[in-house]
Amino acid sequence: MPGPMHGLSIRPANAMDGPAFDAVIGASEPVAWSTLNTPTSRSLVAMNANASPVGFIEARQAGDDIEIIMIATKRASRRQGVATALLQVLIAQTDGTNTRRVILEVAEDNAAAWRLYEQNGFIEIARRKRYYRAGRDGGPCDALLLARGFASEPAA
Ligand SMILES: CC(C)(COP(=O)(O)OP(=O)(O)OC[C@H]1O[C@@H](n2cnc3c(N)ncnc32)[C@H](O)[C@@H]1OP(=O)(O)O)[C@@H](O)C(=O)NCCC(=O)NCCS
Repeated sequence: MPGPMHGLSIRPANAMDGPAFDAVIGASEPVAWSTLNTPTSRSLVAMNANASPVGFIEARQAGDDIEIIMIATKRASRRQGVATALLQVLIAQTDGTNTRRVILEVAEDNAAAWRLYEQNGFIEIARRKRYYRAGRDGGPCDALLLARGFASEPAA
């Protein structure tokens, strides 16, 4: 298993990053990344040592929560700590901003994602039964709602 990515850096996303986000998720058509760069959203880009985007996180303020809308790492760059670094920077930047929790929703059958979240201190706070009609095995799949607090204020 590869170690942490050498030369990884994280910066705020800007309106020019849409195509890079599309490339990270392997979108066949451009996605309307309308929440980039607005007063209520926070998006970060992870870049490798060659300044090439390898991952991103998109979150929005939802009252006193911040909600992660999407986190993704380019396929060839996975398991090298990119998503962990993005999550940690988002959490560090949000701590102390009157935000109570980081929340998100994940399909129960997305083991890579929920392990990432579990490893970063998220706990299950609710479950939407059969929220996804067609999960990875073709059948229905539950959605898990996860949350974590900050060093100063626990999620519970
Ligand atoms: C989920 C995802 C963002 C993880 O990105 P990543 O950069 O590979 O994550 P990290 O390298 O920081 O991994 C951190 C931990 O998550 C867990 N994890 C990540 N990928 C995993 C996998 N394929 N299988 C099992 N656990 C996995 C591991 O615990 C890992 O720690 P380890 O490598 O020390 O064992 C990436 O797989 C992805 O882009 N998936 C498609 C998009 C998606 O499903 N996003 C989440 C829902 S919006």
